[in-house]
Amino acid sequence: MPLPLRLFLLVCAGLTGCTPRIDPSGWTASTPLAEVLRALSHSGAQPPGFAPDPDQVLRGHELVFTGRASAPDGSARSPLSAYFVCVDCHLTAREQPDQAHPVDDAARLAWLERDHLLLLPGNTLAGVTDRAAFFQGDWASRPGWEPAAGVRADLRRAVRFCATRVARGRPLEDWEESAILAYLTSLQWRLGDLDLTANEVSTLKTAALDPARHSALVGQLQTRYRLALPGTFGKVPTDPAGGFGLPSAPNPQNGARVWRLSCLHCHGPDGASATHFKDRPKDIAELARRFTAPGPENLYQILRHGTPSHPDRGSAVMPGFTRERLSDAMIEDLRFWMEQQGTSPPPP
Ligand code: HEC
Ligand code: HEC
Repeated sequence: MPLPLRLFLLVCAGLTGCTPRIDPSGWTASTPLAEVLRALSHSGAQPPGFAPDPDQVLRGHELVFTGRASAPDGSARSPLSAYFVCVDCHLTAREQPDQAHPVDDAARLAWLERDHLLLLPGNTLAGVTDRAAFFQGDWASRPGWEPAAGVRADLRRAVRFCATRVARGRPLEDWEESAILAYLTSLQWRLGDLDLTANEVSTLKTAALDPARHSALVGQLQTRYRLALPGTFGKVPTDPAGGFGLPSAPNPQNGARVWRLSCLHCHGPDGASATHFKDRPKDIAELARRFTAPGPENLYQILRHGTPSHPDRGSAVMPGFTRERLSDAMIEDLRFWMEQQGTSPPPP
């Protein structure tokens, strides 16, 4: 082989100029974000490797929604948990109108209501494969859990941890774990989820052709969703009668929504909790008295920090809600609405 050609091949093998050009012209609203990031020379939050085949995705969906699926060889399996399925605590859809920034309570609740979604203690599983960190903030030190650093940096380990410690289930078999990850990958963000304007999409497609602009593009895309979701427990009121002492007046309409979209999901007749709340004014007002109860019975305490969990205690546990999931104001709204139930006239 002539020297110049050999030199050319040598250089070509190692340099980007000769690698196949990316073709952004085919990007549409349904193109996975992770694929775009990879084209922009970014590895994405999770390394590829959960390449989902449709059969696995289906099994994963069954496991997440019903807690059981038959193994690839057709044999039956016991439920993942005697108490919970994943969707008792996690949505699988986008849960707020703006997914890059916090939104106010009323807008969030309206979004959930409009889409027939729920207000749950775990973060949505939609877009979870595009996150780089899990069990963030105060979850890291929740008594009885204390997820290790490795759990908080690796989706596979986060799933394993949640299924056993939080959902109080049995260990996942390898195929179950892979199926769940495959299903989660099917919930990944797509370009259309990032709320880019038509203009922004066309700029993205043009700029992607220029490798010098790739890292800036990655940075811009990453302002449109969150790489990790924070979790803060805050402080429960030291004077339960006075509550959080917020400056704004409570909003009973939001309180009623929290009751319906959250509490009743687990405490209704078919809910995951063994404790059933009757959805009747008298019983609701009675339950409201727990807001001023002392000690571990106190409702502020239970809502924020959940019910106590011991690794060896065989029972369901309420995980508790961070402020990001159930704000201080939402708790006050709930309390106000619940207390009101005792005073409003009975329905005609
Ligand atoms: C009893 C409620 C509950 C159940 C059941 C449950 N989870 Fe969780 N999960 C949580 C809470 C609370 C967190 C911590 C907040 C968060 O990070 O979403 C969490 C965190 C996670 C995370 C990390 C998400 C993140 O953004 O930090 C993943 C992934 C996860 N759970 C997957 C699962 C899967 C899969 C199942 C079913 C096998 C499951 N969970 C069942 C409550 C639950
Ligand atoms: C993800 C499911 C889930 C959601 C949502 C949920 N809880 Fe719970 N809750 C539980 C579980 C599980 C327990 C533990 C008791 C049991 O089921 O054995 C519990 C326990 C409680 C207890 C203690 C019960 C007792 O007898 O002392 C109270 C009070 C409570 N929840 C109130 C609420 C309120 C109010 C809401 C709405 C803001 C709510 N919970 C939302 C699952 C949930």
